[in-house]
Amino acid sequence: MTYKLGLIGHPIGHSLSPWIHQQFLDLAELNGEYKLYEGDREALPSVLKHLKETGIDGFNVTVPYKQVIVDYLDEIDNDAEILSAVNTVINRDGKWKGYSTDGEGYVRSLKEPYPTLLNSKTSVLLLGAGGAARGIYRALNGQGVDTVDIANRSQDKAEDLLSLRLDEVKSSVLSYQQAEEQLAKYDLIVQTTSVGMKPNIKDQVIQLDNISKDAVVSDIVYQPIMTQLLQDASGRGANIHHGHAMLLYQGQLAFEKWTGKNLDVAHLVNKLENKLRGE
Ligand code: ATR
Repeated sequence: MTYKLGLIGHPIGHSLSPWIHQQFLDLAELNGEYKLYEGDREALPSVLKHLKETGIDGFNVTVPYKQVIVDYLDEIDNDAEILSAVNTVINRDGKWKGYSTDGEGYVRSLKEPYPTLLNSKTSVLLLGAGGAARGIYRALNGQGVDTVDIANRSQDKAEDLLSLRLDEVKSSVLSYQQAEEQLAKYDLIVQTTSVGMKPNIKDQVIQLDNISKDAVVSDIVYQPIMTQLLQDASGRGANIHHGHAMLLYQGQLAFEKWTGKNLDVAHLVNKLENKLRGE
C-alpha cells in the first residue's frame, strides 16, 4: 500500500514534518507521501472534507487547529481529551480518531539519552504553562517521578495545569524568582516557553546560578539548536537535551500509530540537527 499522510495547520510552509516522515518511510521501507495541507480557518472545513474524500491514512495537526479539530473527529483518545488538544489523527475504516503525542514524544526523546533520569526520586521543574507545557506536564506525571513543580510568568495559568496532576506526584506553582532560588533541588529542568527562540536568541527565561551539576536542562526551543539557556547550562557543567529531539520523537510516535512500525530513530537526531543548521 501507499500511505497517504500529511499535516494541517497555518502557517506550515517551513514545517520539517515532510522531511522527518520521509526519513521514517525510508527506514521502514514503506511507500507513502506526507503532504502539507495549509489553510486558514475559513478553508479548514474544505481541507478536511478533501482529506476525508481522498481517504488519508493519518495526519498531524498543528497550530492553530489542535483544539478545533476535535469537532471533526469520530473518537478521541482519553489523554487528548483531558488535554483538549489533538496533534495526530488516525483513519480506521473511515473513522477518525485523535491523539496527543506531544507529551509522550517528549518523554521518549528524553529517555533515549537519559534512560534512568525519570524515577521515583526525580524532581522536575517545568518552565512555562502554555499549550506545549500541558502535554509535557501530563506525560511527566505519568512517569512515577517525585515532583513536577511549575514556574510561569502568569501564575494563574500554572495553577490551571495542576488539574492535570496525578495524585501521587508532588506539584507546586512557583514564580521564576522562587524557581531560581531553589534550583539546586531539581534533577530535570524543562523549558517550554518561546523565550530564546529566533530572533531573540539572547533571551533566557531564568538564570541558572544555583543549578546542580548533575541536572539535565531540556529546552523545547530548537531554533536555534543551542539556545542561550542550554549554553548557560552547558557552561556550568550540567547536561543538556535539545528541542529538535522532541520534534523527532513526536513524529516517531505518530508514525507508529499510523503504520504500526516502532522505528529506532536515535541516529536521526544528528541528521535533523544538520538539516536545521542548513548543512
Ligand atoms: P505554546 O503552545 O507554544 O506553549 P502558549 O500557549 O502561548 O504557546 O504559551 C506560551 C508560554 O510561553 C507561556 O508559558 C507564556 O507565559 P505566560 O503564561 O505568562 O504568558 C510563556 N512566555 C511567552 N513569552 C514570554 C516572555 N517574554 N517571558 C516569559 N514567559 C513567556
